[in-house]
Amino acid sequence: MRQILVAGNWKMNGDSATNAELVANILAAVPVSDNVRLLLCPPFTYISAVAAQIAGSKVSLGAQNVSEHSGGAHTGEVAAAMLRDIGCSYAIVGHSERRTLYGETSAQVANKFQAVLDAGMTPILCIGETLQEREAGRTNAVTEEQLDAVLGTSGIAAFGSAVIAYEPVWAIGTGKTASPEQAQDVHRHIRAVLEKQDRAVAATVQILYGGSMKGDNAAGLIAMQDIDGGLVGGASLQAADFLAIAGAAAQN
Ligand code: 13P
Repeated sequence: MRQILVAGNWKMNGDSATNAELVANILAAVPVSDNVRLLLCPPFTYISAVAAQIAGSKVSLGAQNVSEHSGGAHTGEVAAAMLRDIGCSYAIVGHSERRTLYGETSAQVANKFQAVLDAGMTPILCIGETLQEREAGRTNAVTEEQLDAVLGTSGIAAFGSAVIAYEPVWAIGTGKTASPEQAQDVHRHIRAVLEKQDRAVAATVQILYGGSMKGDNAAGLIAMQDIDGGLVGGASLQAADFLAIAGAAAQN
């Protein structure tokens, strides 16, 4: 059985005081379940403070982005090894906000994915279609293309050490959630794409759902066979909301 991962992507929110309170409240009520792991992804500037606060707990730490380069003259960039050095074990790559607002290409995302692996961390590869693509019946094709870009460079075995997050762009921050059935269909397709190359890897890789996941819809989503947790934006900024999702996961 695959472990459930509930990851909070704080995006560009919070400050030292609100983060400290958020983390303290989460730590006070982490669900006791070996089958659920919580992960926090603060902005770069706060990673070290959160690392100190969660030390000794079962909560993991990740970054929201990472450089595709390992070091050197790349002003403003942060290398995977640096993230590892300050306590991260995960890094999100290819979030749709990076792809659309910052022009990240699938090739860059693939390089970032490999850079995270090279640093000994777990990449969380975000893929997902826009509303236009869904309405054109291209959901499976788009997610497959995004997956193929990474499979082409890192290979199927790399997914033995990676997480995938299916985040339909139309559901991110909109309050519109994919129904459990809609999400399950895409998750199944993603797993089927991997199965064609390696059944064992496909069976073990965690595939998270992201897009307006909340306490009141998490249980239905996580109950689906191929949904192994959530990548949570808005609802990860309030401890009660995030813990409600974690609690739903723990009861799955
Ligand atoms: P929301 O949960 O705010 O829709 O954001 C989802 C997301 O983008 C997580 O990476």
